[in-house]
Amino acid sequence: MSALKPLKKAVLPVAGLGTRFLPATKALAKEMLPVVDRPLIQYAVDEARAAGIEQFCLITGRGKTSIVEHFDVAYELEKTLEERGKLDILAELRAMAMEPGSMVTVRQQVPMGLGHAIWCARAFIGDDPFAILLPDDLMLCEESCTAQLATAYRETGGNVVAIEEVPRDRVNRYGVLDVAEDKGRLVSVKGLVEKPAPEVAPSNLTIIGRYVLMPEVIGHLARMERGAGNEVQLTDGMARLIGTQPFHGLRYEGRRFDCGDKAGFLEAQIAFALKRPDMAPAVREFLKRYS
Ligand code: G1P
Repeated sequence: MSALKPLKKAVLPVAGLGTRFLPATKALAKEMLPVVDRPLIQYAVDEARAAGIEQFCLITGRGKTSIVEHFDVAYELEKTLEERGKLDILAELRAMAMEPGSMVTVRQQVPMGLGHAIWCARAFIGDDPFAILLPDDLMLCEESCTAQLATAYRETGGNVVAIEEVPRDRVNRYGVLDVAEDKGRLVSVKGLVEKPAPEVAPSNLTIIGRYVLMPEVIGHLARMERGAGNEVQLTDGMARLIGTQPFHGLRYEGRRFDCGDKAGFLEAQIAFALKRPDMAPAVREFLKRYS
């Protein structure tokens, strides 16, 4: 067997309209909404880098240029911070800086679904395995969730998606696994269904917004078959890989916050603030007033 290709690429779809956060997202990209003091997209990029990802492709759309600006070097700002002696924040900005040439953007011109968004990155993906991170899903994990998937990819030699169990009545919001064999941490998969009704869902194990996929998924997405919600679904493209390549779900260690949901977003603020030594005491104190 030939050696596995290393995982160095990530695709981050950021073309979504953010209708659930209107009016906040009328002129602001939803991925730029901050949790504590950094935008959602920054958490996703940091998580990917912690997994050894070196090349990034943002799938953008109209009104998303602020995301691209965010990852550029703000030369004037850095100079001003330096002059004012604000060296801590300057060091933080510099640590975040992207390697020159490590981030590209592709525009999804029409909102045809997540599968179509990923297909738009086909030239970037080429013949390499790649991670996908959906920035709405914010992960609080000891070890980067994408790094956990990268380990599982090396173990299984194929496709891996991060999964979690949800109550039956909520499976219709997710991609759902049809389980071949549940081995605990890893679950081998015999089918995938996008947003099934609870009565017909094959399990309550759902895909969260973290994937490591083989490049062959692009050929399946290229058929542009419409699925749930009349969109080209990534889940349907992935389902076609099953039987030809290893496909597993990984029960990742950590917590997920659905930041596409207002309550989930608010909970993420609290959880991430409580992780910060400079903020935790004050946050604990004010929370007493609301219990
Ligand atoms: C997308 C995927 C779905 C997955 C979910 C995770 O759905 O299509 O399979 O379970 O992300 O967040 P969306 O949230 O875009 O409707």
